[in-house]
Amino acid sequence: MTGVTGPAGGAGSGRRRLIPVGGQRRPDGEAMPVVNLFDAVGGQGFFDELVERFYRGVEGDPLLRPLYPDDLTESKRHLALFLGQYWGGPATYSEERGHPRLRMRHLPFAIGEAERDAWLRHMTAALDSLVVERDVHPAIEARMIDYFVMAADAMVNTR
Ligand code: HEM
Repeated sequence: MTGVTGPAGGAGSGRRRLIPVGGQRRPDGEAMPVVNLFDAVGGQGFFDELVERFYRGVEGDPLLRPLYPDDLTESKRHLALFLGQYWGGPATYSEERGHPRLRMRHLPFAIGEAERDAWLRHMTAALDSLVVERDVHPAIEARMIDYFVMAADAMVNTR
């Protein structure tokens, strides 16, 4: 414990990414209870498994595979910790890697629309299979897909 970084990296962190459960408002107008998405999906294990499945797709992808190192162990760990932190889990990613600065970290790789689409295809396939198995609420899946679409597009650096 460093005790200096604050919960999940401070302001704007995933801890505030609360999601309504089961809809926007109850009939009496009260807001629905909200939960942290990280907790709602069962914690870090969900993101570890999501990333395992995602990289299985990457491993068989002739466009993406050459971009990644031969040994994917650290790549898996970094992505899983980043996603856990983003959605409200512990700030382990930032403690180990510093500020995410994802766009900057991706600049060494030429990412065009084809790479973006391939990345998204593997991530959505991984997510689809996992949410079915773990009975995750569709609102949670939708939130995550929206984020992945936005984030993957932000990584395109060839236009
Ligand atoms: C759009 C297509 C994308 C491609 C082709 C791509 C490719 C890569 C590559 C080649 C690496 C380096 C591998 C490594 O460090 O082991 C990497 C690292 C990483 N990517 Fe992506 N990426 C994409 C999108 C994304 C998105 C949308 C996210 C987040 C939602 C993301 C999160 C990360 C993280 C957290 C790392 C590790 C950064 C670190 O070094 O700490 N990537 N990516």
